[in-house]
Amino acid sequence: MVIQKPRVFTPIECNGEISYIESLMCHKKVYVKSFGCQMNKLDTALVTSALEDAGFSFTPSVKEADVVLINTCSVRDHAEQRVLSHLGHLKHMKRSRPDLVVGVIGCMAQRLGDRLLEHEAVNIVCGPAEIPQISDFVAKAVQDRQKALAVTERIRHKGSQQQSQALEEFESVYGIENEQIPAQAFVRVMRGCNNFCSYCVVPYVRGPEVSRSPEAIIEQIRKLAEHGVKQVTLLGQRVNSYKYKHGGKIWSLADLLEAAGDIAGIEWLRFVTSYPSEEFFDQIIEVMAGSPKVCEYLHMPAQSGSDRILKAMNRNYTSRWYLELLERARQIVPEIAIAGDFIVGFPGESEEDFQATVNLLEKARYKNTFVFKYSPRPGTNSDKRLTDTVAAKVKQRRNVELLAVQERISDELSRQFLNREVKVLVEGLSKKPHLNMADAGDNPQLVARTAGDWIVVFNGPESLTGKFANVKIESASPLTLFGRPI
Ligand code: 5AD
Ligand code: SF4
Repeated sequence: MVIQKPRVFTPIECNGEISYIESLMCHKKVYVKSFGCQMNKLDTALVTSALEDAGFSFTPSVKEADVVLINTCSVRDHAEQRVLSHLGHLKHMKRSRPDLVVGVIGCMAQRLGDRLLEHEAVNIVCGPAEIPQISDFVAKAVQDRQKALAVTERIRHKGSQQQSQALEEFESVYGIENEQIPAQAFVRVMRGCNNFCSYCVVPYVRGPEVSRSPEAIIEQIRKLAEHGVKQVTLLGQRVNSYKYKHGGKIWSLADLLEAAGDIAGIEWLRFVTSYPSEEFFDQIIEVMAGSPKVCEYLHMPAQSGSDRILKAMNRNYTSRWYLELLERARQIVPEIAIAGDFIVGFPGESEEDFQATVNLLEKARYKNTFVFKYSPRPGTNSDKRLTDTVAAKVKQRRNVELLAVQERISDELSRQFLNREVKVLVEGLSKKPHLNMADAGDNPQLVARTAGDWIVVFNGPESLTGKFANVKIESASPLTLFGRPI
């Protein structure tokens, strides 16, 4: 159900000026909390930008907020439990502050819909495809405290023309001011997923795969570049399956990367996340080899090294084929840094299956790996058909064991950087104090990344934030390189 657009243009005086109802919101402070992947972070940035345009301001403190917005993730149960625990706190807070408006947006909103709206704390439930309406919902709830539900019915069906146009507009008016890291931006190239990996909730909460038009994407990147963005990361659940018929040809991710590489000001391009697939693979890796702007980095999850488990996961490849694909990438781009994801404790995963995953990890020589314990997601095929047989303790042990193997590999790979100079893009002040060099002067510690996504920490002037620098690496740990600017 989608509620009526609640726009009421009542003249109102705000900061000495006669304005309309949306400007009244300038008195209202919003606290935004975001869970989940990069796609969600991008949605949070879009929503923040829209609320700002509607006259809201923001606060880092829940206590000061008139509105609390939580952008949620449903990929694992743990992420949902954290949201529910936040809502528990907010419920208590609302008893003494009944005016507080609480909105839940994102994947969990879409998954649970009216069940979430029944929660005592919640005023607004808004799924990912409905976020263009978010400022209207919030404005309305601030006025009347009524509950509002906006989730997409029949989410697996292609959305209406009107809905995709609203999402397109919402996406393209987005301002760079909200980006967390200076000079960097994320651009969605496609929405949804059609892959139906048996454990994954994404196709059920984000709908079918839809590629955005190359014109819109390129125009957006051009605008970002005009505003000083140097690095753009193209986002898609299966970004390498990007496909769009335009101008008499079919555009692939390789074409997009080439076109984006021609935009003045853009210096680094990345793309995440890739699915192990033959389609367009060589073209994409060849663009990486040929274009100095396309970073030598590939995030391509294997999920398991056991063919039996891969089949049950509906991943459509074997471990051998996957390793051959990595080999092909390394032949074309020898310096390529590869990252992976694994799920341990998938239903029926035996010690032998797990050992096959360890073997794959040893051979894949990833730069880093994200390891997740299998979490049954309601509605997915693995949850419907299989029992979550692997005990929590076993999942935990496998998780730790896999990470230990990866740590040894990351350590070996990171040592190759010792005494080498690397080019980095500086993200800003380092949050954790890692090193204190005696001769660093007054310079704070900065965090930066190489084209291959290695984290580099060094002491340097804060003014380097958002700029490229060259750093000589002097020491290395499995996940971080330490050095000195040249
Ligand atoms: N349980 C555990 N991990 C999951 N992932 C996706 N679904 C699940 C699940 N049900 C992991 C996959 C994916 C990453 C984003 O999250 O490894 O690549
Ligand atoms: Fe989920 Fe698989 Fe789609 Fe990734 S490719 S979002 S794991 S269904």
